[in-house]
Amino acid sequence: MKKVGVAILGLGVVGGGTYKILTEHSQFYKKNHGLEIVVESVLERNKERALSLGIEESKIAGSIAEICSNPEVDIIVEVMGGVEPAKSYVLAALNAGKSVVTSNKELYCKYSHELEKTAKKNHCGLFYEASCVGGVPVIRALTDNLQGNVIKSMLGIINGTTNYILTKMANAGASYVEVLEEAKKLGYAEANPSADVDGYDAVYKLSILSSLAFHTKVPYTEIYREGISEISSVDIAYGKQLGYVIKLLAIGKNTEKGIEVRVHPAFIKVEHPLASVNDSFNAVYLTGDSVEDVMLYGRGAGAKPTGSAIVGDIIYCATHPNFVYSPFENTEKADPATKFIKNFESAYYLRIVAADKAGVLSKVTSILGKYGISMAQVIQAKEGAEGAVPLVIITHETYENSINKAVADINSASEIAKVAAVIRVV
Ligand code: HSE
Repeated sequence: MKKVGVAILGLGVVGGGTYKILTEHSQFYKKNHGLEIVVESVLERNKERALSLGIEESKIAGSIAEICSNPEVDIIVEVMGGVEPAKSYVLAALNAGKSVVTSNKELYCKYSHELEKTAKKNHCGLFYEASCVGGVPVIRALTDNLQGNVIKSMLGIINGTTNYILTKMANAGASYVEVLEEAKKLGYAEANPSADVDGYDAVYKLSILSSLAFHTKVPYTEIYREGISEISSVDIAYGKQLGYVIKLLAIGKNTEKGIEVRVHPAFIKVEHPLASVNDSFNAVYLTGDSVEDVMLYGRGAGAKPTGSAIVGDIIYCATHPNFVYSPFENTEKADPATKFIKNFESAYYLRIVAADKAGVLSKVTSILGKYGISMAQVIQAKEGAEGAVPLVIITHETYENSINKAVADINSASEIAKVAAVIRVV
């Protein structure tokens, strides 16, 4: 029987879930893997929380140094979140020769180059399955199982909070503000929900996933980002009439022209498999040249779903002594040879609140025509407030720069009130 000593840094939701899985399944790991996994130490300021999980007081460490110098500890699990002090603790662990398992997407996304260099130098493992899409095993699918492919694209719903909010807005016709408040009460959204609703959390995850998928470093700073706070239930309802569902999508494409990476709300066809990923569920839809389409679906957050990914990494670490690192040059910045496409192509949904006058539609179409934008679908709804008429257009594929110029021109045309919404259509 091989003994594996584990220390857990942080006993919040994920740390607690990890501890429970390890203790509840300990006989299973002995029987099926020949591993006696023992939680030797925890770092948690809230002593009561540790004790309430059944952890002996003697195992509550006073400092990271105490854990790093404990010869019984082989693997350190970092589930604290945020950059500091998590980064200093992970570097200390690696420099002490301990392998690290982390769920920290912000830390891994921003500093994996430094963490990995330190792990290599000290011949340690560095595992991060839990950093992206919680319990959904997408990292190892990319690093191992999908190696028979050149991955062409990925489409992901990789933030549960925003998916919950958009699902509720669509089902209940409620406003963004109302649903956000409800999400906070239910504990889905944080008191400061910016990381989720403004798309940062999804950007960190997309940086990690697209680097692995496309075998080149995709720094988060290269990713276009737009959150969901401007989405209105009016647009969700028009989208529904036209056969679309709105999602916060993380999009990665590897084309001959370069890499395209973006996080923004988008309409997708109701028939697309991602359209039925609802509530706080996550999914990643990958297209490889051999396998074609694959969709991985499940819980992207939560105590046991994320704990499941962490425990999977602990067992992988304990059973694979030859550590493998990033399958690309893991530098802070992108390889200078990598080209990132900023003026990407997309179809667009436009909602224009127009004056109810003859010639308005032709004025709009002539502005769109000036930039080579053609229309695929149009709805002219009934007269709205003060004689204004909502005009909803779905365009054919065009360029981001073209749509921006067309929107600016429409907004400056006197007989047209304003473009009230621009949403990409995937
Ligand atoms: N806040 C994240 C989400 C969970 O809502 O998906 C952990 O990444």
